[in-house]
Amino acid sequence: MSPHPTILGYLGRALSLEFSAVQQFLATARLLESRGIDAAAQRFQTEAREEMEHVERIIGRMLALGAAPNASQLRPVRVDGSLTELVLSAVELERDITDFYARAVADALAIQAHEDRLFFDQLLQEERHHLVEAETWYRELTNPGGQR
Ligand SMILES: [Fe+2]
Ligand SMILES: [Fe+2]
Repeated sequence: MSPHPTILGYLGRALSLEFSAVQQFLATARLLESRGIDAAAQRFQTEAREEMEHVERIIGRMLALGAAPNASQLRPVRVDGSLTELVLSAVELERDITDFYARAVADALAIQAHEDRLFFDQLLQEERHHLVEAETWYRELTNPGGQR
């Protein structure tokens, strides 16, 4: 059975988004390291590794479906701004990826591509987790005392 074009489209865009996240988070980590903010740099390093694991999973899925991985639409990398601004950029990126996987799950369901729906749903859950972590970090930076 050949894969549905809708699914191949989502896999291709997922690959581009995940590679964009890897590139952004590695750049952010190196930038923060150069400023001596090592703990934050380490967090972005870890984040980049998790996104790289998503890249690997998507490539595996594409190969299993007989499609060649071809990420060509990478987002521009942000290499300026304060730590707070960089964390906010991470929040926005995680939110975009989360919204993207939510659409992938809905569309896979609509065309009854059940295995693909499960595949995207697993990524959706993990990205929701990333989003909550990034949002929490952002709140800690902008409201350190925890008061409202
Ligand atoms: Fe990811
Ligand atoms: Fe993520």
